[in-house]
Amino acid sequence: MPNIAVVGAQWGDEGKGKVVDLLTEKVQVVARYNGGHNAGHTVIVDGERFVLRLIPCGILHTGILCVIGNGMVIDLWELEREVEELRSRGVAVEENLVLSERAHLILPYHGHLERMAEDARGQQKIGTTLRGIGPAYEDKAARRGLRLVDLLRPERLVARLAEARGHYERLCRGYGVKPEVDFQALRDDLVGFGARLGPRVGDTAQVLQRHIANGYSVLFEGAQATMLDLDHGSFPFVTSSSATVGGVVTGLGIPPSAIDGVLGIAKAYTTRVGAGPLPSEIGGALEDGIRERGGEYGANTGRPRRCGWFDGVVTRYAARLNGFDSIAITKLDVLDQLDEVKICTGYRADGQVIEEMPSDTELFGRCEPVYETMPGWKAPTVGIRDYKALPEAARRYVERLSEVVGCEIGIVSTGPDRLDTVFRGSSRIAAWFA
Ligand code: IMP
Repeated sequence: MPNIAVVGAQWGDEGKGKVVDLLTEKVQVVARYNGGHNAGHTVIVDGERFVLRLIPCGILHTGILCVIGNGMVIDLWELEREVEELRSRGVAVEENLVLSERAHLILPYHGHLERMAEDARGQQKIGTTLRGIGPAYEDKAARRGLRLVDLLRPERLVARLAEARGHYERLCRGYGVKPEVDFQALRDDLVGFGARLGPRVGDTAQVLQRHIANGYSVLFEGAQATMLDLDHGSFPFVTSSSATVGGVVTGLGIPPSAIDGVLGIAKAYTTRVGAGPLPSEIGGALEDGIRERGGEYGANTGRPRRCGWFDGVVTRYAARLNGFDSIAITKLDVLDQLDEVKICTGYRADGQVIEEMPSDTELFGRCEPVYETMPGWKAPTVGIRDYKALPEAARRYVERLSEVVGCEIGIVSTGPDRLDTVFRGSSRIAAWFA
């Protein structure tokens, strides 16, 4: 299979885990390029549920090299927990996992700083996952962050931590809060991590470049999604990394020419967690029903997700921005019982119709959806694996989504299992996967 990037088209939780897991069958390497354990990629294998937070989904297959790229931020305690959890369930995590020595670390003071910052925002909270993601990327941009490579040089750690401590304590004073991190214990922990992880840490950009040059196939696994991208999402209600396809290049250290195709993942409806605009939010009992049927609760945090109709403006924006070659529509079956389904094709604000994503989030927050309504199919699609076997109204819905977004829909997912997937025969993704 060519080297494909898998990118979320909405606000995350589109079901990237399942699709990456499915495509892994045809590759030798899976590499994650952004974010940290704010992600929760759920994969069901033979009825068993795995939630991966940091480690690429490829780990569930034997013989796949999994890469944690430089664009990610790593909480080492969380990483060790995830490794142990996988091992306790019979998944091998050995030399099949490598980490970029350029990846930055999330340290305990990042979580503390994030809680203080979110509290200080009061009503303006972003609703972050409180995993220290934002403050770790802030330290990276401020050039005071610690990287995995620093763990391999314990003599350097003391100086790096002294700088971090000074900054942390100044911020605590500013917030009027007592520091809560024991830096001596932290240093000892980091030395321990360095000793244990050393053999897995290296220049993963070189590893990837070599694999690509030798003809191996790589799957680039995105976390979060286009509307959470730091540059292109609904700022400031975004995460702190590049979740769009640009992040593949910077977050892994490979040239753009190494990406042969981009597969967008979008749910048959829209969800988001945390604060910020969601123009097609449904509200009331209908939204509650979709949330329950779709199990729309954070895989990591358990937070209920807000649910909306499929937003064609958002997904069209994502398709153009990332250059999607094909889109996978997930969770179609969640809509099975509805009398009718709606597609948001544009917005209305200030007496005007808007068809492009506004950069101004305040304006985006005032946008009212313009809907097209279609009849529901009122028949089960769960587990259907052949496009022609889908009810006609469901096929019409999928085909209309494709027209609204301006991109082929090559995959329709009809259930959580790998096998509950429809590949549309004439699509690019089906040709790549064949
Ligand atoms: P952070 O990534 O913890 O800084 O959170 C920033 C925003 O991104 C919040 O609205 C989070 O709910 C959202 N977010 C971060 N990661 C995910 C994800 O994997 N799925 C969905 N939303 C996410």
